[in-house]
Amino acid sequence: MVNDDIKYPIIELEDVYKSFGELDVLKGIHLKIERGKTTVVLGESGSGKSVLLKHMVMLLRPDRGKIFFENQLLNQLSERRLATVRTNFGFLFQSGALFDSMTAGENVAFPLVEHTDYNKEKIEQIVHEKLRMVGLENFSSRMPGQLSGGQKKRVALARAIVMEPKVILYDEPTTGLDPIRADVINELIIKLQHQLKVTSIVVTHDMKSAFKVGDRLLMLYDGNFIFDGTSQQMQQSQDSRIQRFIAGQASPDELEELNGK
Ligand SMILES: Nc1ncnc2c1ncn2[C@@H]1O[C@H](COP(=O)(O)OP(=O)(O)OP(=O)(O)O)[C@@H](O)[C@H]1O
Ligand SMILES: [Mg+2]
Repeated sequence: MVNDDIKYPIIELEDVYKSFGELDVLKGIHLKIERGKTTVVLGESGSGKSVLLKHMVMLLRPDRGKIFFENQLLNQLSERRLATVRTNFGFLFQSGALFDSMTAGENVAFPLVEHTDYNKEKIEQIVHEKLRMVGLENFSSRMPGQLSGGQKKRVALARAIVMEPKVILYDEPTTGLDPIRADVINELIIKLQHQLKVTSIVVTHDMKSAFKVGDRLLMLYDGNFIFDGTSQQMQQSQDSRIQRFIAGQASPDELEELNGK
């Protein structure tokens, strides 16, 4: 299921470069995403995972290279056309921010109020259904301040799927959660893939989550992918950078840096 095997990708990045000033973050990324599968993007902090995700919906624009969604080239589209393309995506942002002044239910309803002309009853019914999918149907009238971190993530996830997206982009969905709550999110990712037949892209450095949810794992390192394969292939990889990442071990260079040498 590596790039070469994917004939009809839902998303494709072709030779994508992105720099911020002197900092070269993406250096010629080639990526095809298969429909209906869960692709996990791994990489250390600052390696460009969030930047990569934002390129898929053109929240960031590449310096060079092409980005396609369902064979449509996104580079030249106007903001208005892009807004339409983005309705195919649910985005669970790294900060996971809910609107603090709105209830959980109002947060989930927000995209429907913005993008559809559904009446109040229909919106309430959809909101209830989505909150039920994440196991929070009785939390609709809670304010975000009255929810735990894991519950907030689940409300944000209910909001991300409310427009029935074809693709869900998850940026660090389990970060900051205890192992049990993290696993609830993992199970939700798997459930949504099966129930909604959705295509998922999950950015994480939670290896347990990656191995559990990922049909395909990618590792971003120095602007490019140094690994593309299954969980099993990754666990068997002989590449020391990948082994260290899985084990959570710093390299001798990184330790020297820490010691100020
Ligand atoms: N809008 C921006 N302007 C300038 N620099 C940016 C911008 N967005 C990201 N960067 C820089 O690009 C690099 C990659 O950032 P990115 O957020 O993609 O990292 P990441 O892999 O998601 O890290 P983390 O795991 O900590 O979330 C970082 O050095 C970051 O400071
Ligand atoms: Mg990030």
